[in-house]
Amino acid sequence: AESPLDIVPVAGRIGAEIRGVALSGDLDDLTLAAIRAALVRHKVIFFGNQTALDDARQEAFAERFGKPIAHPTVPVVPGSKYLLELDSKEGYAASSWHTDVTFVDAYPEASILRAINIPEAGGDTLWANGVTAYQELPESLKTLVDGLWAVHTNLYDYAGTFGADRKQIEQHQRVFASTVYETEHPVVRVHPESGERALLVGHFVKSFVGLNAADSQRLFGILQDHITKPENTVRWRWQPGDVAIWDNRATQHRAIADFGLQRRTLRRATVAGEVPIAIDG
Ligand code: SIN
Repeated sequence: AESPLDIVPVAGRIGAEIRGVALSGDLDDLTLAAIRAALVRHKVIFFGNQTALDDARQEAFAERFGKPIAHPTVPVVPGSKYLLELDSKEGYAASSWHTDVTFVDAYPEASILRAINIPEAGGDTLWANGVTAYQELPESLKTLVDGLWAVHTNLYDYAGTFGADRKQIEQHQRVFASTVYETEHPVVRVHPESGERALLVGHFVKSFVGLNAADSQRLFGILQDHITKPENTVRWRWQPGDVAIWDNRATQHRAIADFGLQRRTLRRATVAGEVPIAIDG
């Protein structure tokens, strides 16, 4: 059905801007359903100029949208119920490809990210489409991944995210991995709403079930290269007050840490999801 929303695609395979909507806890049913449909279709949707949203209103919108949950290890923004802060001041930029919180069984279905402080230039975010990545795999690789499972954990640096920065590694272990989680997910996830098949990998993957560390690392690289190739991504240049919502069941994302010592602050509400379903159920 034709969407009642004004939707402008941003890139060829993923991402669309939705114009003329003010996100709030009071959105009517029709608008909310149209937003959810646009999210499943475009995988990440952008809303500019949501300057009326403060922490409480972002949370009210998240409650209208689904069931927001706090991060399992990182403390919430003081005074908020569920918000996670991404603040460059803490030495943090989520600058490696991942799907949010895949180290737990029922990981979030969506994330709602609001920009507060944005560098004069840089600090964009990229998203990649896990569905088109799967569709484009050669048949032999599809056959390989269709029945494959991966081990995900939050005690990771498999993607080499932190480089040689000891301080960041220590901070990561102290806070992010204060409780260690580990779980297994199918590498191909069947989307609970669209039925589409999506590749589910990202930087929390430690290994593939039945493969040793060396083979796991090589296969991880092959799959991530397919998922994150530029044709399969969208890039968003933030303005303060922008909101991005992504379908965490079908995408990966990463920040671009190209803004030096400038301040970059965003706050994320994360919406509860279901345990992934594999192709064979
Ligand atoms: C995130 O990984 O949820 C945030 C990405 C960003 O900071 O751009």
